[in-house]
Amino acid sequence: MSEYNFRISVIGAGYVGLVASACLAKLNNQVICVDNNQEKIASLKKLIIPNYEPGLEDLVKQEVEGSRRLSFGDDISQTVRNSEIIFIAVGTPSRPNGEPDLSAVERVSREIALNLNSYKLIVEKSTVPVQTGLKIKETIKRYRKQEIDFDVASNPEFLREGRAIQDFLYPDRIVIGVESERAKDILTRLYTSLKAPILITDINTAELIKHASNSFLATKISFINAVSVICERTGADIKKVAEGMGLDKRIGRDFLEAGVGFGGSCFPKDVEAFIHIAKEVGYDFQLLKEVKRVNSYQRQAVIKKLKEGLWVLNEKVVGVLGLSFKPDTDDIRESPALEIIRLLKEEGTLVKAYDPKAIPKAKEVLDGVFFSSSPYQALEGADGLILVTAWKEFKELDFLRIKNLMRYPLVIDGRNMWDKEVLERLGFIYKGIGV
Ligand code: NAD
Ligand code: UGA
Repeated sequence: MSEYNFRISVIGAGYVGLVASACLAKLNNQVICVDNNQEKIASLKKLIIPNYEPGLEDLVKQEVEGSRRLSFGDDISQTVRNSEIIFIAVGTPSRPNGEPDLSAVERVSREIALNLNSYKLIVEKSTVPVQTGLKIKETIKRYRKQEIDFDVASNPEFLREGRAIQDFLYPDRIVIGVESERAKDILTRLYTSLKAPILITDINTAELIKHASNSFLATKISFINAVSVICERTGADIKKVAEGMGLDKRIGRDFLEAGVGFGGSCFPKDVEAFIHIAKEVGYDFQLLKEVKRVNSYQRQAVIKKLKEGLWVLNEKVVGVLGLSFKPDTDDIRESPALEIIRLLKEEGTLVKAYDPKAIPKAKEVLDGVFFSSSPYQALEGADGLILVTAWKEFKELDFLRIKNLMRYPLVIDGRNMWDKEVLERLGFIYKGIGV
């Protein structure tokens, strides 16, 4: 008998696939993580981690070199043949019309079919529209070479970047969508040591839970952002409003931080996808369209506040603090910073930017931005400062030094991170979001 619980392959070594691989290895499974990006796999074999995620490098090293339960490869065929469970964790980006692009999922399904040599459980980890499991199943049946049994299951991932390992190993819940006892038994055994509630559903329901959860969280953020506008126009304080609302257990305090809006590779994409899925079945999800509109307004509101302070933005110098879509990640996909910088450049503003981790990725997509080596360098000679990402290191900046460095002391605190009164006492003109 094998010393491992299961032989697993994870297809896709991105933000989710890599974390899932390392964590599943930690749960005493033999895991091979494969990707069709050969450069990525070559780096991973040398233990060079493509994304910044706290604790990930150490965990990968431990599982590759210490326990030897984790390895990397680019031969999907071989890996599929050797596995009992196959997790699909490839990207599902938006097409221009909002529809999720499932071509990577379809391609992987065909590759699995061609290599079906014994019973396998194929698990969707990628976020996919309801009824995708059904299509994966049809595809595998269509392309398999022999009448070998298999199951498809949905096991949506709820981890957040920046605390991905913690979220994977200590989840609020595990959702398992299955259509056979065998699949249910395998996945229940796989996760049994996590001590989290396991919800068993059919595949469609599990898929829908994921889109509904992300869309609901995005709605919560847009709701508080809309309320922040009312606060600004009436003199109320959004931080206290959020606190007062959040004390009601039915509402909860989480995800009520007003700011420049949500970004990242998932909320914008998944809200779009859910609107599209609803449309396909004849329902106009107006509520989510409004969530998108409010989110976009929050970016424009920053520019409006800057104009109120500086009148003309052409040739002004603005220091942008934070480029990643949230702290503790270097992921800049759909980051509010990218949109704000685009709007600034349209105004002819000179942008200086600093981020603790995301500058290398930002350099790949942003032209004409001066990337600084410290927050202070970004603010030297600046007419305004915009805080976009609430990195911890921005909390304790030396504002006396900043006051002397800036040409004009205008602060737009896009994450309500700093104390308005303290900054005003130091001579700054402070504008937060809803405060
Ligand atoms: P990603 O872009 O970081 O990673 C996807 C990986 O899949 C890439 O490395 C890519 O090279 C690889 N890939 C693409 N096609 C392939 C193929 N045919 N064969 C093998 N490898 C292939 O994406 P991600 O952020 O890890 O997201 C993956 C999925 O997980 C998405 O559906 C996303 O919505 C979902 N998800 C993401 C998060 C998150 O925090 N990023 C959280 C929960 C769910
Ligand atoms: C989000 C969900 O929280 C995860 O459960 C889900 O698995 C993931 O999407 C996914 O499907 O990919 P993530 O995007 O990594 O995780 O990060 P969040 O912490 O949710 O933040 C998303 C965005 O919302 C960030 O730009 C953040 O700054 C913003 N946000 C968050 C707010 O503006 N206000 C808040 O109160 C909370």
